[in-house]
Amino acid sequence: MQTPPVTKYLPFPSVVLPNRQWPNRTLKEAPLWCSVDLRDGNQALAQPMSVEEKLEYFDLLVQIGFKEIEVGFPSASQIEFEFCRRLIEEKRIPDGVSIQVLCQCREDLITRSLEAVDNAKSVVFHLYNSTSPKQREYVFKATEADIISIAVHGVRFLKEKMQPLVKSGTQIKLEYSPESFTSTELPFALKICEAVTDAWEPTENNKIILNLPATVEYATPNVHADQIEWMCTHLTRRNLSIISLHTHNDRGTGVAATELALLAGADRVEGTLFGNGERTGNLDIVTVALNLYTHGIHPKLDFSDINHIRDVYERCTRLEVPPRQPYAGELVFTAFSGSHQDAIKKSWSQQKPGSAWDVLYIPIDPADIGRSYKAIIRINSQSGKGGVAYVLENDFGFTLPKLMHKEIGRLINDLADSRGTELTPELLFTTFEEEYLKRTSPISLQHFKASGSDSSVNAEAKITISGVSHELKGTGNGPIDAFVNALSTTTLPKFDVVSYSEHSLGTGAEARAVSYIQIRTGTRTLFGAGIDTNIELASIKAIISALNRLLASR
Ligand code: KIV
Ligand code: ZN
Repeated sequence: MQTPPVTKYLPFPSVVLPNRQWPNRTLKEAPLWCSVDLRDGNQALAQPMSVEEKLEYFDLLVQIGFKEIEVGFPSASQIEFEFCRRLIEEKRIPDGVSIQVLCQCREDLITRSLEAVDNAKSVVFHLYNSTSPKQREYVFKATEADIISIAVHGVRFLKEKMQPLVKSGTQIKLEYSPESFTSTELPFALKICEAVTDAWEPTENNKIILNLPATVEYATPNVHADQIEWMCTHLTRRNLSIISLHTHNDRGTGVAATELALLAGADRVEGTLFGNGERTGNLDIVTVALNLYTHGIHPKLDFSDINHIRDVYERCTRLEVPPRQPYAGELVFTAFSGSHQDAIKKSWSQQKPGSAWDVLYIPIDPADIGRSYKAIIRINSQSGKGGVAYVLENDFGFTLPKLMHKEIGRLINDLADSRGTELTPELLFTTFEEEYLKRTSPISLQHFKASGSDSSVNAEAKITISGVSHELKGTGNGPIDAFVNALSTTTLPKFDVVSYSEHSLGTGAEARAVSYIQIRTGTRTLFGAGIDTNIELASIKAIISALNRLLASR
C-alpha cells in the first residue's frame, strides 16, 4: 500500500443536495423486484449454467415470487436464445410474470432479441449503453451527443420493430439503463434519460423503467442515495417512470446503498439470490427482502424454505453460500460465545407466542425461513454454562438445576479445550451420561427399600464398595435422609445433602424420573444425578453418583 499521503486514489465527489429528504424517511413497503440471476449472475460464473440448470433456476425464482426475471442476453449467445425460446414455447412462464431480456442499442441485436421473445405474453425489453465520462473517453471515443443518439436510436428502432409482436398480443415495457450511471455526471444522466423517455413516450399504463446502475460501486451508500434522490426530483416525467436500482457490491455496501436509495425514492430493485454477480457480486436480494421483513414489512417474496433455495442455488451456480451470509449462512443461527448463549436462552424462554419477536442476538425467528432451532447453540471452548444447559434441555430433555450449570459447564469446557474442536450435542450428552448417570464405581447399589411413616422412614440398602458387599440400615425423616444416615455407618466420606430437584423424562408408560442431588463435604459441593422409573430410586442413585464423583476426584 502507498505510504501516507495516499495520492493514488481520489475521494468520490459528493452530490450538492442541500434539501435532501431521504435521511428523514422510513421504508413502508416492498419495492418491485427483478431477479438478474440468469443474466448478470450467470455471466459471472466460471461455468455458466446449462439450459437445464437455467430452467430449474427459473422455476425457483417463480416459486419465490419474482414477477420480473431477466432471463439473459439472447442476442449475444445461442444458449440464451434457446433458453428464452424454451421458456416461451414450453409455456413455462406463468401469467403475471414478465421475462426481461438485455440488449445493446444496436439494430441487429434488437432484431434478434425480438425474435427471442416472439409470442411471450409480457416482456421487459432492457436497452443499455454506457454513459460515464470515462467510458465515453476511453472505450467509445464518443461525445455526449453521440451517446444520447445511440440510446434514442435504439429506442426508436425497438418501438418500430416491436409492432408486429405488440399486435399479436405481447406486452412490451421498456427498461433503459445508463450503464455506469453512478460514475456519470448527474445532468448528463438526466439528459439521456429524458431523451429516451421522449422517444419511448411512456403512459400511465406503460411506464418506462429507468434503471440507474451502480455498475461498479465507488461511493458510500449516502452518496448513492443522493444521486437517486437527485434523479427522482429532476426528472420531468417522474410520474411515468419506474426508478430502478441495480447495485454491485465492490465496497461491500451494495445492500446499504440499495436500502438508502429506496428511501431516496426508488421503486424497483434488481439483484440476485445471495449476491452472485460480477466481481464482488450484485445486490443480494435475499438480504434486502428479509431486512424489510424483520422490520415488519412483507417483502412479497417467499423465503420460507431458504435451505431449499440455497441448495438449488449452490447446485446450479456451483458456488457456495458462505457460512456467515446473512439469513442463509450455515452459522448465522449459531452462537458460540457463552454470554450470547446465555442471553439467547433467557430471552427465548420469555418469548410469548403471537408477540413481537424479541430474542436477543437473533434478529429473525429461524423458523420463519425454515431454519431450525436446534442449530442455535453449539458448543466449543468459548461456550458458557448456559449453552451446555440449553443443549441438554433442548435436545435431550434434561432440565439441570441452575446451581449445576457451572459444574457441567466447566467439565464440558475442559473437554472442548482438550479436543480443540466443536462438540456435537451427542458427545455432550454422552459426557454428561458417563460423568453423572452411569457412575457405578467404586460404589454400586444392589438393593434399596424404604418403609415407615411420613415423618420417620427406615431404609435398608445393599451396596458394594470396591467389590465388597455391605448391608446397611438407617432411619431418617424421608428415604433420602434415611439412606444418608445408613451410609454414615460405613467408611465412606461424611456429607450433607444441600439441594435436591427432580423432573420426569418422557411421558406415559415410558416415563422415568431424573433426580439431581447436590452434596457437601467439608468446603466442597458437587452434584450427582440418577434416573429410574421410581422417583425414590432415582434420588438414591443420584446420591451414589455424587459420592462416586467425589471419590473419583480424590
Ligand atoms: O451493472 C450494470 O450496469 C448492468 C447493466 C447492464 C444494467 O448489469
Ligand atoms: Zn450489473
